[in-house]
Amino acid sequence: MSSPDPNAAQCPVMTTTAGNPIADNQNSLSAGPRGPLLLQDYQLVEKLAHQNRERVPERVVHAKGWGAYGSLTVTGDISRYTKAKLFSEIGKKTDLLIRFSTVAGEMGAADAERDVRGFAVKFYTEEGNWDLVGNNTPVFFIRDPMKFPDFIRTQKRHPRTNLRSPTAMWDFWSLSPESLHQITILFSDRGLPTDVRHMNGYGSHTYSFVNDEGQRVWVKFHFKSMQGHRHWTNAEAAEVVGRTRESTQEDLFAAVERGDYPRWRMCVQIMTEDMADEWSARTGWNPFDLTKVWPHKDFPLIEVGVVELNRNADNYFAEIEQAAFSPSNIVPGIGFSPDRVLQGRIFAYADAHRYRIGTHYEALPVNRPRCPVHSYHRDGSMRFFGLQTGSPDAYYEPNSVAGSAQQAPQYREPPLKIGDMADRYSHRDDHDDYTQAGNLFRLFDEGQKQRLFDNIAAAMQGVPEVIVRRQLAHFAKADPAYAAGVARALAPDPAGDDRLKGTSATDSVEPVAS
Ligand code: HEM
Repeated sequence: MSSPDPNAAQCPVMTTTAGNPIADNQNSLSAGPRGPLLLQDYQLVEKLAHQNRERVPERVVHAKGWGAYGSLTVTGDISRYTKAKLFSEIGKKTDLLIRFSTVAGEMGAADAERDVRGFAVKFYTEEGNWDLVGNNTPVFFIRDPMKFPDFIRTQKRHPRTNLRSPTAMWDFWSLSPESLHQITILFSDRGLPTDVRHMNGYGSHTYSFVNDEGQRVWVKFHFKSMQGHRHWTNAEAAEVVGRTRESTQEDLFAAVERGDYPRWRMCVQIMTEDMADEWSARTGWNPFDLTKVWPHKDFPLIEVGVVELNRNADNYFAEIEQAAFSPSNIVPGIGFSPDRVLQGRIFAYADAHRYRIGTHYEALPVNRPRCPVHSYHRDGSMRFFGLQTGSPDAYYEPNSVAGSAQQAPQYREPPLKIGDMADRYSHRDDHDDYTQAGNLFRLFDEGQKQRLFDNIAAAMQGVPEVIVRRQLAHFAKADPAYAAGVARALAPDPAGDDRLKGTSATDSVEPVAS
C-alpha cells in the first residue's frame, strides 16, 4: 500500500463506477507477492475496460478542433426580416459555443497547416439550438453534395501509400472547375491563419429568414474578426509546427484564460426574392450556388451583433469533442434554401453524430438545448432519461392525454414554390466558375499574388504534367496573369511558360495514377 494521504479525511473517497469504495488503486490483486493476478480483481478489470473505451471515432472531417463558450449580443435590429427570438431586441444576449477546426488532418494533426478552418456556432436559444456550421471562407469547393465524399477522399490519405496525395487533390480540382474560387482563397494568405481569433467566419450557404408576417428573404451570415487578420507564410508555419503542433489551441485557450476575449461582428446580407430574380438575370449567377459570393456593393453587410468568446471548457472531451453541430438545427424565423449542398448537409450531420457519439447525443450537457424538450422518441442505448412528452401515458401521438405535448401549427413556414421536372440536372451546366475567382485574384496586391503563385506551386510538387496543365487552363480562364504566375513559380526558367501553350480546360481527362 502507498502511504496514506494525511489530508485524506477531507478528500472524497475514490470509488468504482458503481460507487463502491476503492482501498488500493496502486496494486493489483495477486496470488502471493510474486504470483499471477486474480480474475476477481474487478477494480483492475473496470480500469482497463474503461481505458479501452475512452475514444469515440474521430469526426470523418474537421477532426482537429478548438472551442470555447461565449455569447451573442444583438446590436442591430433585423426583426423586420426574422421573427427568430434571439434577434428580437437590441441588447439581447444568447449563450453560444464555437468549435473551430481544420478539415483534412486527423485529431493529432498540427494546427498551423494550410487548410480551410471550420467555424461552427451553436446558439443556445430559447426556441432550441440553432447551429450555424460554417467555415472561414464564404464559398466552398463543390456545389453538389454528391461530390463531397469524393472531394474528401482526395484530402485524406491514399489507400496504398497512406500518405496525402497532391496528385489526387489536383486531379479532382482540375476536373471540378467549380472549386477554383475556393482554391484561390485556400492558397492565398487567408488559407493559413495564425490562429482562429484572427480570421472571419461565414455561414457560407444562403439561408432564409421569415418575419412575423410570414415574408421570406434570403440571407448570408458573416462573422468579422475584431482582432483583425493574421496569417503565416508556408515558411513561418513550418517553423511554428517545428516548435509546437498545438499553436491554435495554445493561442485560443490562453487568450480566453487571460480575459483577452476574442470578438466578431456578426453581420447579414439580405436578398429579397425579387432581388434574387433580378441579380440572377443580370449576372447569370445562382443565389444558391455555394461557390459564389454575393458582392457587398449589391448586398451590403448589415450589422446584427457582437459575438464574444469568454469561457474555456472544463473538460475538452466532454464539451468540445462531444459537441455535435448540425445545419438541421434551426429555429423559427430562420430556414433553409434550395442550395443543394445545404440540403445534403441537413441529412449528413445528425447521422454522423448518432454514429460517432450515440443515439442520445443531444442529451449530453454541451448539446442539450437550454429550453424544454418535448419529443416522442424513446428508449435506445444509454437512454438515461424518461419520456419528454409531458405525461407518462403520452407515448404516442395524437393522443387524448391531458398535458401531453402537441404540435404547434403557428410554427409552420410559409410555402416555398419550387415545382419543376425532377431530373439529375448537371451542376456544371450554365455555371460561370471563373469570373468571381478572377475578381478575387485581381484584388490581390503584387505580394499577395506572388505568395498565391508560390503556395500553389509548392502544393503541386510531384503532380503529373497532364494535371498541372489542366489546372493551369482553369487559372488562365480566371485571369491569364494567374496562370502565368503559377507557371513561372512552377518552373522559374522562361521555358516554364510553355505549359501555357495549347492548354484548355477540356484537355485530357484520362485517369492518372498517384
Ligand atoms: C463536419 C459532412 C460541407 C463545415 C462535418 C462532418 C460531416 C460533414 C459528416 C462531421 C460531423 C461530426 O462527426 O461531428 C459534410 C457534407 C458536406 C459538408 C456531407 C457537403 C455535402 C460543409 C460545408 C461547410 C462545412 C459547405 C461550411 C460551410 C463543417 C464544419 C464541421 C463539419 C465546420 C465541423 C463541425 C464541428 O466543429 O464539430 N461535415 N460537410 N461542411 N463540416 Fe461539413
